Amino acid sequence: MKAIIPAAGLGTRFLPATRVMPKELLPVLDKPVIQYVVEEALEPDGVDGVCIINSHEKPQIEAYFSVDEDFEAMLASHGKDALAAHVHEASSLPVAFAYQDDPKGLGHAVLCGAEAVGDEPFFVLLGDYFVPDRKMCVRMADISAAHGGASVIAVAPVPEDQVSRYGIIAGECVGCHPDYDAAGEEEGAVWKVTGLVEKPKREEAPSHLFIVGRYLLTPRVMELLRTQTPGAGGEIQLTDAMQRLLADEEMYALVVDPDEGCDTGTPAAWAATNARMALADPASVDAFYEALGRDARDRLG
Ligand code: G1P
Repeated sequence: MKAIIPAAGLGTRFLPATRVMPKELLPVLDKPVIQYVVEEALEPDGVDGVCIINSHEKPQIEAYFSVDEDFEAMLASHGKDALAAHVHEASSLPVAFAYQDDPKGLGHAVLCGAEAVGDEPFFVLLGDYFVPDRKMCVRMADISAAHGGASVIAVAPVPEDQVSRYGIIAGECVGCHPDYDAAGEEEGAVWKVTGLVEKPKREEAPSHLFIVGRYLLTPRVMELLRTQTPGAGGEIQLTDAMQRLLADEEMYALVVDPDEGCDTGTPAAWAATNARMALADPASVDAFYEALGRDARDRLG
């Protein structure tokens, strides 16, 4: 079973930095954002590889996940074996690449991974967000297993004035994840999805539960994407293919706490994610406070 990570975007929110460097390689502490997403994708049982949907404009991503024996040997010859091992970690991850050179939308990006996925269910993880404890997709897999392998998406409440930025679901609460005692829109609640709409107008949104960017989908979605016509923004939308899937299959949504994950989609969110990860890491928290200057611990701690 594979996971798809779409990563072909231009990263315009991070210009000028992303003129020469893909936003997926921006570091959070010492690792690029996309490595956190890849490691999260590999966490659920049965996921044995990741397919990154890249653009040929960003060869640095593929280079990052490739072995560079000369570089590792150079580090080792300088006595930096631990660093060499750290560098090697990224290149030993089971990562493959497919290419989307024409940005036609998220649905089209996912379809570019069809060959890698084959005739099996697959995860999609949007790359602007990662979950440090890597448990969100694991809990989604639990819900899918409890419902005969149905598709499952992560959703969360969003203020009404923001629904038009996201994919929004319709449905009803039918239970909760076994680790929770939840109902309605609380974290851990499970909904049966009856409709999905991408970027609805405020007055047309069927609920205010938005799709967070973690999907576990059956292979039928790939079939539907092949014939998917453009939707919101003139793009081929994954949400629209999932709406068509409902005619053939059941789908469930797990309510999550989006703050369980870290957003890296804008410079401010990326900076906050770095701060959050530095504060959570015993190896860096003291140095982080020291670097912030006098009284920082009192101001922030
Ligand atoms: C995409 C999806 C949308 C989802 C969102 C989450 O939209 O199409 O359904 O709610 O990601 O971030 P985008 O942010 O690419 O416009």
